[in-house]
Amino acid sequence: MTGLTERWQLTGRRALVTGATKGIGWAVADELLALGAEVLIVARNANEVAAAVADWAARGLPATGLAADVSTEAGRTAILAAVQARWQGLDILVNNVGTNIRKKFVDYTTAEYERLFQVNLFSVIEMCRAAYPLLRAASQASVVNIGSVAGRFDVGTGAYYSLTKAAEEQLGRNLAVEWAADGIRVNTVAPWFIRTPLTAGLLAQPEFVDKLLARTPLGRVGEAEEIAAAVAFLCLPGASYITGQCLLVDGGLSAKGM
Ligand SMILES: NC(=O)c1ccc[n+]([C@@H]2O[C@H](COP(=O)([O-])OP(=O)(O)OC[C@H]3O[C@@H](n4cnc5c(N)ncnc54)[C@H](OP(=O)(O)O)[C@@H]3O)[C@@H](O)[C@H]2O)c1
Repeated sequence: MTGLTERWQLTGRRALVTGATKGIGWAVADELLALGAEVLIVARNANEVAAAVADWAARGLPATGLAADVSTEAGRTAILAAVQARWQGLDILVNNVGTNIRKKFVDYTTAEYERLFQVNLFSVIEMCRAAYPLLRAASQASVVNIGSVAGRFDVGTGAYYSLTKAAEEQLGRNLAVEWAADGIRVNTVAPWFIRTPLTAGLLAQPEFVDKLLARTPLGRVGEAEEIAAAVAFLCLPGASYITGQCLLVDGGLSAKGM
């Protein structure tokens, strides 16, 4: 068992966070940096990647970035090559990229729902497969996948998004068991409504927000920092006996019946 200080810091840990120029991914990268980790961020927009890295560099924080699309094989190959070249190992992998299209079940085109599976689930599966040798090369690695409460209940997000998030949560349990002997912990963080660019459109609709707040015991929308804190906790040495779990960060939503 480590001492108190060691349990609550990530000094020298090497972290890869996908989708980290804005929203939850940016907040996760910022939190890991604040706790002492070195962070490589990934997103598709090269200018936004460069701007985020420059901002952290101006604060003296060791961030680097790469413009790549995790939903393509070429993108994932470039990301893993960058990690291999820079660190030859990986202590923390946060699979954060995800998106949604909200429609009724039969209104999606096949191409639309296949895209959701590609971005939200298959990219996570492929990132885990590709990163495995690098995670195994680290001494106590932690993988955190960003799921959603939609993986547990119908929250009006559309069935296909829910399916991808439910599968992602189960992937976490399977990998936690399979990779435990390699010293790799795998957990999921499942947020409820969080204020990010992805939800800005919905959160601008007062009727939608009223309905949302009425269902949420804490009576407010969550902030990206509140997801980042949960992710960071699961990456800390202090969480060394936690694996295969899904932590719902939901303002009490899942505890509420009537
Ligand atoms: N916000 C919520 O209320 C909420 C609730 C539950 C779960 N979640 C989950 O939390 C995660 C993050 O959501 P968010 O709201 O923070 O999203 P967001 O505001 O849309 O931010 C997405 C980030 O990912 C990057 N990105 C998107 N597609 C990418 C791709 N194919 N390859 C690489 N980077 C990509 C974006 O930059 P580029 O566009 O430049 O690539 C951006 O940096 C998702 O998995 C989402 O399902 C969110």
